[in-house]
This record gives sequence, structure tokens and C-alpha cells, in this order.
Amino acid sequence: MPGGLPLVVTTLTGLEHVLAAELTSLGAAAVEPSRRAVRCLGDELLLYQANLWLRTAIKVLVPLTSFPVRSREDLYAGASAIPWEDHLGPNSTFAVRGFVQAECFPNTHFPLLVVKDAVVDRLRKTRGGRPSIDLQRPDLELHLHLAEDRCDLAINSSGESLARRGYRITQGGAPLGETLAAGMVALTGWDGSTPLVDPMCGSGTIAIEAALLATGIGPGSFRKEFPFQRWPGHRRKEFSELREEARTARKKVSTTILAADLSPTATRKTRQNLQAAGLEKVVEVRTCPFAELPPPSTEGTLVCNPPYGERLQLEQLGLFYQELGNTLKQRWNGYTAWILFGGREALRSIGLRTSARVALRNGELPCTFARFDLYEGSRRRGGEAAASPPGSQL
Ligand SMILES: C[S@@+](CC[C@H](N)C(=O)[O-])C[C@H]1O[C@@H](n2cnc3c(N)ncnc32)[C@H](O)[C@@H]1O
Repeated sequence: MPGGLPLVVTTLTGLEHVLAAELTSLGAAAVEPSRRAVRCLGDELLLYQANLWLRTAIKVLVPLTSFPVRSREDLYAGASAIPWEDHLGPNSTFAVRGFVQAECFPNTHFPLLVVKDAVVDRLRKTRGGRPSIDLQRPDLELHLHLAEDRCDLAINSSGESLARRGYRITQGGAPLGETLAAGMVALTGWDGSTPLVDPMCGSGTIAIEAALLATGIGPGSFRKEFPFQRWPGHRRKEFSELREEARTARKKVSTTILAADLSPTATRKTRQNLQAAGLEKVVEVRTCPFAELPPPSTEGTLVCNPPYGERLQLEQLGLFYQELGNTLKQRWNGYTAWILFGGREALRSIGLRTSARVALRNGELPCTFARFDLYEGSRRRGGEAAASPPGSQL
């Protein structure tokens, strides 16, 4: 079991436990969920696997140091103490990015410059040369997290967010992030062996993430390049074998994955994205309003994120969700439905009893991902039951 390399893998609110389970199944040790992140121990190969396979990760970071900061001087001294010469040669390029929310740094860009100076000055002293800044494709991307009085500095092995898989070549008005869509599928507990339907698929993100899971394709395998491929000592041969493995479908999908939408533009986009992901034969696409969509089987999982309150006029919202609830009740008996709600009004209007609820965030919008077990008698009678899965915050 790998053990020497500490990793911090970032994720979205509400998906910490899902990510922790993913890391455990990859073989990480000492897996510990925290707020929007999971800490664990691994090694270089686990870092490669994490970037190729994790469905609910945003970034895989290698933490370097953590220290208290109350001034520019503290930050400079802490950042200068890292042996940057072990990570960067005089001809290497680097960039500093991150998150700053601290009273002592009202200008949130300034701390990034302080860290940049500390790195450059240390390399000048130890190596006699200075590395260059490259914001587009740096050899090393440093990740600074400065919140209140604490600075965490890490190396970002993923580069841009792992949510950007690369298959979504076109999108509709309110697409879900790929990480959130994958997390929603994981929260349903669906394992690829029974039918799954997204009846309001937009650009198809939920169905595509479900298809990646069912075929056993690593979502990071679409990436052309990761920053760690430019690190000194990168294990090229092992990585290329791991990437090949992640690109190759491991399983044949023998159930229905159905993506439907009333908008022909949306289903066209879904088809284009499916094609880009090489999954056009795995997901069936239909243009059809939900009220008329026939369930493909007598039982299965339905997952969707319907239009939110801010996109629907308030008076339309109640009616829309009421109709959605009626359709579920009348036509989808036998299914377990998981719906992402952007507000309490919508959740109330659906008129069905929830059997689980998970607090998630879609960008800035706090959401509730709610489960409805659709069988006779599931219509709300009085109060709601809320048996929430691990990690649920409601
Ligand atoms: C928020 S978007 C879904 C975004 C999608 N999850 C994605 O990642 O691109 C909601 C979708 O619901 C569709 N929709 C709205 N009312 C519908 C209905 N009655 N039947 C089917 N689709 C509907 C819209 O056309 C829109 O594409």
C-alpha cells in the first residue's frame, strides 16, 4: 500500500465522502475527509491514478507547508523556507495561483506575488538563476490557500480543474459541472447494472458521467496533458500504461442509459458531447417532454437537474414542479428518482415525500439533492422523512 506522499484532493461541498470512498478504492492510505477536500497518503503512482480516475475531484495537490501568517514578512519567510531548488531548475517555469481571504491582505493578488518573489529569490541564491513565470503552461503550478491567519502552500498536479474532462465540446444554458454530475450519480448508489434516465438532460453531463462510470473509463483520460508529466523524475512509462488503461472501457454496458430533453437543441448537444466522449453507442438520446417519456423498464434510477427558480418565473415554478411530481408519481412507479433542487419552493411544490436529502452547491447556488422512492403511497402525507446518507448536511 502506498504511504509516503501526502495528498490533498479538493472537491465540492457535499461530495467529500464520495471522494474519500473513491480514494480508498484507488488504494490511498489514511483517507480523511475535511471541508471540500480529502487528505490521504499515497505515492507518485497514486497521484497519477488520482488524476486519471477520480470522478469527484477538482484538484490533486501535494502539500508542501502550512504556517501562520499575519504579514507580508511571515508569508515571504514561510515560502522561502521551501527547498524550491528540488522542484525547479533555472530554466523551469512556474506560476502561483490560489485562494486568498485574509484581513491582512485586502489585495488578494498581492500574496501570490509575495510567494512568487520568495521562490525566485531562493532560486537565485541557490542556483544562480531565476525561473520564468508562465501562466499558460507552467512546469510547476503552486497553489496558495490563505484563509484568515493560515497559509497552505501546495503543488497542483492537476492544472486546471479536473471537472473539465474535455468531452463537453458544446453546452446549453445551465450545464452542470462534470464533477457535480459525477457526484450526483455516485450519491444515487447506481452501479451501472440497472437502467438510468436523465429526462431533462441539457447537454448530457449526467448521462455521460453515468456512462463513464458504467464502462469503467477514467474521466481524466481525456486530458491531453497533466502538469506532473513535466516534473523532474516523472515516470513516463508507468504513466502512459496507466493512462492507456484508464482510456480503455473495462465493462460492456448491458442496461439502458437514457438521456432525454424536450429541446431538440439540447439533445443535439448531448449527441455531440457523447460522440466527443466516444459514448454514442452507450447512451440512448430522445427528444421528448418528460410528461410523455415512457420509462424504459419497470424499475431503475432517474437523475436530473430541472430548470431552477432563477430561470423560471416564480409563478411558473410551483406549477412546473407540481407537474414534475405528478408525472413521477403517475408514470415512474418502481423508480428511484434523485432530483437537484435550487430552492425550497421547488422542493415543496413537487408534493412527494423525500427519503434522503444531501446538501450540494451548484456553483454559488446552494442546492438540495433529494431522493424519492416511487412506489404506491409515496405521495406526501403530512411531514417529510429525511434519512440522509453519510456526508449529508441537511
Ligand atoms: C438545467 S438544464 C439541465 C442541464 C444539464 N444537466 C446539463 O448538464 O447540461 C434543464 C433542462 O431541462 C429541460 N426541460 C425543461 N422542461 C422540460 C420538460 N418538461 N421535459 C423535458 N425537458 C425539459 C430544458 O430544455 C433544459 O435542457
